[in-house]
Amino acid sequence: MERRFEVLVTRRLPEAGMELLSESCRLRLWGEDRPAPYAWMQENASGVEGIVCLLSDRIDAGVMAAAEEKLRVIATMAVGCDNIAVAEATRRGIVVGNTPGVLTEATADLTWALILALGRRVVEGDRMVRDGAFTGWGPTLLVGADFHGRTLGIIGMGRIGQAVARRAVGFGLEVVYHNRHRLAPEVEHAIPAKLLPLDQLLARADFVSLHCPLNQESRYLIGPAALGRMKPTAYLINVARGPVVDEAALVAALQAGRLAGAAFDVYEREPELSPGLRELPNVVLAPHLGSASIETRRRMAQMTAQNLLAGLHGALPPWCVNPEALERG
Ligand code: DGY
Repeated sequence: MERRFEVLVTRRLPEAGMELLSESCRLRLWGEDRPAPYAWMQENASGVEGIVCLLSDRIDAGVMAAAEEKLRVIATMAVGCDNIAVAEATRRGIVVGNTPGVLTEATADLTWALILALGRRVVEGDRMVRDGAFTGWGPTLLVGADFHGRTLGIIGMGRIGQAVARRAVGFGLEVVYHNRHRLAPEVEHAIPAKLLPLDQLLARADFVSLHCPLNQESRYLIGPAALGRMKPTAYLINVARGPVVDEAALVAALQAGRLAGAAFDVYEREPELSPGLRELPNVVLAPHLGSASIETRRRMAQMTAQNLLAGLHGALPPWCVNPEALERG
């Protein structure tokens, strides 16, 4: 009989992933529909060869150590890996797999859903109608932002940033971006998009949309200084990772009228809300829905399982963030 691998799974994945995992693994599955507690992961990691996790799970040296020497692969159902101690995994010869590419378009769609809802005050309007406060059309009722002829500033011009930029063309916005590397001239030209230093982007953009990974450089990138450079008529949209924004500073800026509004899909202490955020009318709050389309989540689950199975068999996961770990394993 074929050997079954011991695997810790921190949440039930969409069926396409569960089917693949169940074929050759014995699953230690967190069965509840809320993030697995850290203590549960530590208690159940003993002797596992693989871990399947979500972006909300902190997979650090403590969890890796709890798995003892057997752990060979960590597969996360996300593109962002900031919840995983990747350097520690590499040191231990553990490969880490993620799900890039497949969620690009869905996340760009959600970004635009937020930009439009925020600028055109769709959520405020929804509330007004539900509350029975809509008494008929009015010339100044919930007037919002214009999009055509305005400037979208994108911070982090990877796959998702570029997909957001391509959609901006349809709405008639100019695109400027800030990124660690300049895009190839033909890519810039095709969008079209112009590279700017961060300060200049913040001063010029009417909509600032965040799409950078969370790391040492991007943590609190948008704090009091950055917010102070933005126009008082500008909007901020965060679909990247919560801690890219200093939320206390943002709430203060919004309360003082130093910014027109903000939309969030991610939160600094997700899923907690920073004090003051909930009460602000010019804020749109989504529960981390960037990749939440049926087909995208199905593909993410499949890729996660494929990454895991490759790692369990001692091969390089097809989507691996630390291939150098294999030489150490
Ligand atoms: C990711 O994959 O990192 C996204 O945040 C999921 O929506």
